Amino acid sequence: MDLKTKIENLLKEVEELKASNDKELEVLRIKYLSKKGVVSELMNEFRTVAPEAKKEIGICINKLKTEALAKINGIREQLLAANVTESAENLDLTRTAYPIPLGTRHPISLVKNEIIDIFSRLGFCLADGPEIEDDWHVFSSMNFPADHPARDMQDTFFIEAHPDIILRTHTSSVQSRVMEKQQPPIRVICPGRVYRNETISARAHCFFHQVEGLYVDEKVSFADLKQVLLLFAQEMFGKDTKIRLRPSYFPFTEPSAEMDISCNICGGTGCSFCKHTGWVEILGCGMVDPAVLDACGIDSSKYMGYAFGLGVERITNLKYQIKDLRMFSENDQRFLEEFIAAN
Ligand code: DAH
Repeated sequence: MDLKTKIENLLKEVEELKASNDKELEVLRIKYLSKKGVVSELMNEFRTVAPEAKKEIGICINKLKTEALAKINGIREQLLAANVTESAENLDLTRTAYPIPLGTRHPISLVKNEIIDIFSRLGFCLADGPEIEDDWHVFSSMNFPADHPARDMQDTFFIEAHPDIILRTHTSSVQSRVMEKQQPPIRVICPGRVYRNETISARAHCFFHQVEGLYVDEKVSFADLKQVLLLFAQEMFGKDTKIRLRPSYFPFTEPSAEMDISCNICGGTGCSFCKHTGWVEILGCGMVDPAVLDACGIDSSKYMGYAFGLGVERITNLKYQIKDLRMFSENDQRFLEEFIAAN
């Protein structure tokens, strides 16, 4: 067979090439295009071709080379598209599909949902506001005068270029968000994340979670507040739970109070969690200061209200006795999986 016929036969062969995976394709590439492959061998033979035939044979060899390359690249693309790669060959199709391990809810979410559930049954709706807030909603509308030391009670994260834009330090900012849009009766709770510029330790973190409560209507009394909070504490921690209110100060409430519950770890007899007092503080509350109502566009001569703000981490600690706040944000799976039963 002369060289020209040999190349023509090879051209037909190349046209018909097939491979069903990467390995077969590599075999073809080596056969035709490698250093010792068909095309290279033809090049060697080419040296012995008579000078007058060189042009014609040269063109034929080049054609074979381009066609083989095009064919092999074409097959490679097809394989890629069909995703028939080597790794797919290693798929273990005999592996059982079930049970698929389910994730667990985070303890903070569990407790937050429980709090929402209790207050929903008391007729509170959910409200929401941004975590990146302006000074007005976090401080000024909440009756913190400019430069008043009360602002120091909360170590604020400021955005350097925009001192008016801050990370909210409490969910009380949602109070003003709600009141500027809605007239009484208002009965909302606002769960959310808040930020404070604190050194991270077992007892403090630079972010944590609060649930804010706000009730504004024509006749609202401190007794209403106390009754709702007692009911909440007993739903959350059990029927024997006692509450006590201690006078306190917040710029946005007057009068203000902090609420303790009887320590549910020792039952009130005294332990290290309650520092042997038998009581643990869980929230701040009070009657909405008329100045706050007015700042938010609500007529304080007609309406009054109560508000409260509780720390979700604090309640979670009490419920699950978690000693180190950092556990909540470390995403250690061993810790998170402890809550499977509670999900
Ligand atoms: N905003 C307060 C804080 O972060 C908590 C608080 C206290 C909220 C009293 C209230 C309230 O609504 O009435 O410490």
